Amino acid sequence: MDQKNNKKIQSSRRNFIKSTSLSTLTALASGQALLASCGSENKEKTSRSALPSTAGGVVTRRDISQLKPDDPSLMALKDAVGVLRKRSERMSLAPDGWFAYATLHNMFCFTNSYSRQVHFTWLFFPWHRAYLHFLEKKLQAAIQEPSLALHYWDWTKYPRIPEAYWGKDNPLSDSTRLASREDHIPDDYMNMDSHLRTPSFKGFGGFPKISPTKPFGEGVVEQSVHNSIHNWIGGNMDNFATAAIDPIFSGHHGNVDRIWDSWLAQSPAHKNPIDEEFLNYSFDFTNEWGKPTNIQVKDLLDTKKLGYQFESLDFSKMYEGAGVRPSPKGGMACLTKDVNLEESKRQEMADALKNGYRRVILVMDRFKLPFIPICIRVFLSVKGKSLTETDTLGAQYVTTATILPVGVPDTALVEKNIIMQAEVGPHLAALMACGQPLQATVEPVKVPGRPLTTTAVEIKHINIEFDDEKE
Ligand code: C2O
Repeated sequence: MDQKNNKKIQSSRRNFIKSTSLSTLTALASGQALLASCGSENKEKTSRSALPSTAGGVVTRRDISQLKPDDPSLMALKDAVGVLRKRSERMSLAPDGWFAYATLHNMFCFTNSYSRQVHFTWLFFPWHRAYLHFLEKKLQAAIQEPSLALHYWDWTKYPRIPEAYWGKDNPLSDSTRLASREDHIPDDYMNMDSHLRTPSFKGFGGFPKISPTKPFGEGVVEQSVHNSIHNWIGGNMDNFATAAIDPIFSGHHGNVDRIWDSWLAQSPAHKNPIDEEFLNYSFDFTNEWGKPTNIQVKDLLDTKKLGYQFESLDFSKMYEGAGVRPSPKGGMACLTKDVNLEESKRQEMADALKNGYRRVILVMDRFKLPFIPICIRVFLSVKGKSLTETDTLGAQYVTTATILPVGVPDTALVEKNIIMQAEVGPHLAALMACGQPLQATVEPVKVPGRPLTTTAVEIKHINIEFDDEKE
């Protein structure tokens, strides 16, 4: 098996995803191999005297896009990822190898199982924090370097794939990516200001699961910047089954994790849920030795207790593109829907938008998850206006988001329905005040390396409402 498998692993990455990784990941996901105990046979150790010392066992995660190629923290990361990758090359089912780690993501994120799925809900932030925490521990153990820290990639500062992730013999590279070195993340993917002022944790980070027959409620960070950048990178990253194979996953999620702490730091009114159901929820993982372990959400709320902190929580110097409002392109693939709103509240909503005293949201009730990722922009206009009319009652930008699929078509176990919401910005006040019926247009967005999809996005209703009336 090893000979044959090793050959496959060394063959082109694209074939690898199709032929091996999915089947290997599935085998790992279903088998005991992943959860079996395993000693670390790799005791590779290099001298890293230049690494920063850890203050009280707390390592500092830094922005990978700002580091020099010979930065010791980056070299330690590359070495450690290289060790995990080698373990999987020697034995694809190695429980302490890179593919076993990637499989954990597949098990909880690509799944159709209602109870296991952590995306589209308020478990999104804590589960991914735990996932990176155990990766950090595995990497520290792999090179016996307790001061090794994961990194984050602040795409608002550096909206291209950082140099650290490119290069032929670089363990952090991945040849399946569809975005190139020169491609630039579109400005509207990273509209951080509206994310960071989302008042409630649920709107920000996702809603509780209610029941298998009810749709999931996705938080704004997940549906927009998180999903959109996964999809924009493409290749392994645009599919939850394979996303964590690409080491850029930990840089991307490192920044998503950082948004959580940054959101908490924005205002004393920003708080994590205090519901027992949230705090006592526990996740199954494997530790640095590949041994099963679990962790509760309440033990994931303070990064220092997990042994790390961020060098900076600052998103205030958002690059000049933040707040950008693209115009619609129009075309056959757009979907237009009437917007429901309570006419009696309309003037109050318009005033609230102007003065900012109450938050107004657009709720897209029940997207059916497609089987391919779809990036969308949403526009509001007076009903019947064509998308190219640009007066104040014509198409006005609301949000950009991406719908990522889960599971495979023939094994759908749950109704994969989700609800998305987005802030209605102050620039929409005139449209609200005009008193005429409104429509929303959902336009698919072209993503590097892929044709513009014409697959219809299914949405049941689109409503405009006050955020504080939502629950
Ligand atoms: Cu579970 Cu960014 O994915």
